[in-house]
Amino acid sequence: MSLLETRAISKAFGGIQALSACDITVEQGSITGLIGPNGSGKTTLFNVITGYEQADSGQVLFNGTDISRYKPDAIFDLGMGRTFQITRIFPRLTVTENMHVAIRRKGLAALLSRWSASSESERAKRLLDFVGLTHLKDAPAGSLSYGQRKLLELAFILIAEPQVVLLDEPAGGVNPTLIGQLGERIRQMNEQGVTFLIVEHNMEFVMNLCDKVMVMHRGTKLAEGAPAEVRANPAVLEAYLGD
Ligand SMILES: Nc1ncnc2c1ncn2[C@@H]1O[C@H](COP(=O)(O)OP(=O)(O)OP(=O)(O)O)[C@@H](O)[C@H]1O
Ligand SMILES: [Mg+2]
Repeated sequence: MSLLETRAISKAFGGIQALSACDITVEQGSITGLIGPNGSGKTTLFNVITGYEQADSGQVLFNGTDISRYKPDAIFDLGMGRTFQITRIFPRLTVTENMHVAIRRKGLAALLSRWSASSESERAKRLLDFVGLTHLKDAPAGSLSYGQRKLLELAFILIAEPQVVLLDEPAGGVNPTLIGQLGERIRQMNEQGVTFLIVEHNMEFVMNLCDKVMVMHRGTKLAEGAPAEVRANPAVLEAYLGD
């Protein structure tokens, strides 16, 4: 069953057609990759799906519900988490404090009102442990390396126990050790039932991790298939070389 679907999404910024009738499908339980040259519309598609941008036309369906007009908070509350190409953390707060901010995020208040403060911090601790940041829990988030910030951001969104997680270039600028760790964590969460849609330029990471890969080119989906199929598709190479 498809968990997430876009139907003929178009979006222009002035004269730039960032998305043109873009259709994608993300199957429940999959790790789906979204690749394509710079400027092909990947981040814009994420922004439209998660409510940060309004499409000019087309629909976004999540669990069969049309969420095209929903605001980011409402989409988050439905069980969709995302990270950003540029991480959004609070640099002056410690890693643990950042987690507590995430817990208190709008929409989670109702859920968490039933929880005691201790179970809340217990949960923050467990997630920091999961992403391997426990040793940095009292460090200001601003002192973390780029890769560690990305792991912190991942811990952030996991607090809400999302059904689907959209990652925008999780491995970009991250050192190889942390990339390996990140891939491992994604796999573990996926085994627990979390669906992933991942934008990434690191081909090795995408090809090793994903069940299916979709290729964006000039605002629309050019190709899709198993990693090996996509890799062997001459149109895909051409799209990369041409832009
Ligand atoms: N807010 C905006 N205002 C104007 N143009 C935009 C805006 N956001 C995106 N664009 C343009 O839309 C097109 C698609 O951009 P987008 O960021 O979605 O590409 P991308 O596939 O994520 O690229 P990259 O791999 O470099 O991150 C580009 O031409 C970009 O310059
Ligand atoms: Mg982008």
